[in-house]
Amino acid sequence: MRPLEEMMNRGHEHVCYHHDQATGLRAIIAVHSTALGNALGGVRRWCYQDETDALFDVLRLSEGMTWKAACAGLAMGGAKSVILLPERNAPISRDEARAMGCFIDSLHGTYIGAEDVGVSPEFTDWMLEKTNHVMGGTGEGQGGDPSPHTAMGVIYGMQASLRHVGRDQFTGLTVAIQGLGSVGSHLAKLLQERGAELIVADHHEDRVRHIVDTCGAQAVSCDDILFAECDILAPCALGAVFDEDTIPRLRTSAICGAANNVLRDPDADSERLKDRNILYAPDFIVNAGGLIHLAGLYLGYTPAQLQESIARIEQTTLDVFEQAPHHSSTGHAALAMARKRVEDGAAAKEPINAR
Ligand code: NAI
Repeated sequence: MRPLEEMMNRGHEHVCYHHDQATGLRAIIAVHSTALGNALGGVRRWCYQDETDALFDVLRLSEGMTWKAACAGLAMGGAKSVILLPERNAPISRDEARAMGCFIDSLHGTYIGAEDVGVSPEFTDWMLEKTNHVMGGTGEGQGGDPSPHTAMGVIYGMQASLRHVGRDQFTGLTVAIQGLGSVGSHLAKLLQERGAELIVADHHEDRVRHIVDTCGAQAVSCDDILFAECDILAPCALGAVFDEDTIPRLRTSAICGAANNVLRDPDADSERLKDRNILYAPDFIVNAGGLIHLAGLYLGYTPAQLQESIARIEQTTLDVFEQAPHHSSTGHAALAMARKRVEDGAAAKEPINAR
């Protein structure tokens, strides 16, 4: 891969590499777009096969953040960072986190870090010792755990899915949840409060038992959850779960969940879902609640504005469904909406040669 060419093709603004001599930290920050504002995105700690692999990941993820923030109606761009671990499961250290904090600080707020795979709330607190441009962590001051807000956003996405087919409540509906981690467990509780019947699965037996006991859910095996008969299927575990093998076996009318990139081949799999008449609420629209919470706090939103912005996920999802017949899929309709918002944002900026 030619890095500059790849940046140009994807429309990236900056890609910064960093090596900290003292701790050995190797990291990349990719800022895809600041057309709508500074850019918030998670810090991922991962052991990549090689540097090209890491660069590809950070370019792909940061681009995705631009579209997610734009659809969420935030005055935020898109960025992401990766820390290249020397070995799998390399333990976190305060020095490593502080070195990453210094790297983030060197971008003066153009990039705002947050948690992602491999980064704990504690690690986030340590980054915060060196920069103000990080959100999340253990305290509520920087937004804390975004998962409850992500779960609430998924509920709004589900409400839009119901309204699209002329229904308006969860009572009497069955929702299957794959994965009962931070988001899935909150989602289960919110759905139970709204009268939905639940079918759930997770590799962690204790998590399953807790939701069975507290929400009256029915437990099934991890092999069966995707194929459970239900009204809505909520993937809240991993990406790439829907493909040519799984889609023909689904027994749901709609898909709406928190996991990112759930379609293995976005074009072909959207087509397959459409052929089976399964309504797909695009992941990056409905899982934006956590981002809205953290970015909104960073931008100085009041609690009421935060709530309103997360609630707007419902209308955005409905808009996407309405636009979908003019596009090849709901995913493409969402992407077109995001691109338009970013183009409008860029056009509204003062041209550089007019300064
Ligand atoms: P988590 O790591 O807390 O929970 C994931 C759960 O899925 C774990 O309990 C795991 O055991 C389970 N799991 C893994 N493979 C499974 C399988 N095959 N069948 C059933 N269960 C399985 O992650 P979290 O934070 O709850 O996030 C869930 C998904 O949503 C992830 O893909 C994440 O990237 C995405 N997401 C999370 C956000 C957040 O605010 N936490 C925001 C946006 C997206």
